[in-house]
Amino acid sequence: MNKPLRIAIFASGSGSNFQAIADAVQGGKLDASIELLVCDRPQAPVVQRAQEAGVAVHTFRPKEYPSREAYEQEILELLRGKQVDLVVLAGYMRILTDVLVGAYWGRMINIHPSLLPSFPGLHAVRQALVHGVKVTGITVHVVDGGLDSGPILAQRALDIVPGDTEQSLSERIHPMEHELLPHVISQIASGQIDLEPYINLKPKDGIHS
Ligand code: GRF
Repeated sequence: MNKPLRIAIFASGSGSNFQAIADAVQGGKLDASIELLVCDRPQAPVVQRAQEAGVAVHTFRPKEYPSREAYEQEILELLRGKQVDLVVLAGYMRILTDVLVGAYWGRMINIHPSLLPSFPGLHAVRQALVHGVKVTGITVHVVDGGLDSGPILAQRALDIVPGDTEQSLSERIHPMEHELLPHVISQIASGQIDLEPYINLKPKDGIHS
């Protein structure tokens, strides 16, 4: 890994987590450089956030490619060109293929708004409310090619209180994410979190075997 750590952030929407990482870098709290924002929705607000932060942006429209592998191959070449050490999925709403997951095995992390392995996939906050759990939270984990699965690096929990709605709960979850994600990246940058064991865990015969 380089020093400072060279990261790429993948996001599809608002990008408040992108902003938290960019602010931490800008404020000297995170010894990393954001080399690229990758976004599958050219109109997403995160694109403007990146432009304002002076971060290079790669947007694409998945429908314009023959396959997921084709657009991922293009992204992979960009990541390699920029010598990206760590890929951070921060609200990236697409399933990844082995093209990217395999190439960045053990060097790709994701943030998810539940206490995984509970409630993977879409609408995690809603799922927690529907199930009536009393405690939920957020998870940062290493990406292993499954849906929001992979070794867990950090979690934070919070209580669900009577009367909570998807909106009220999300409003408490988001600030926690904005603190935890830059913190985990900074621990990776400093070596406090060692990703080497996960890199070495890579199955020899493809990620799904
Ligand atoms: C976050 O809740 C994150 O956990 C999930 O997608 C959301 C992205 O929010 N994976 P934002 O675009 O960073 O505001």
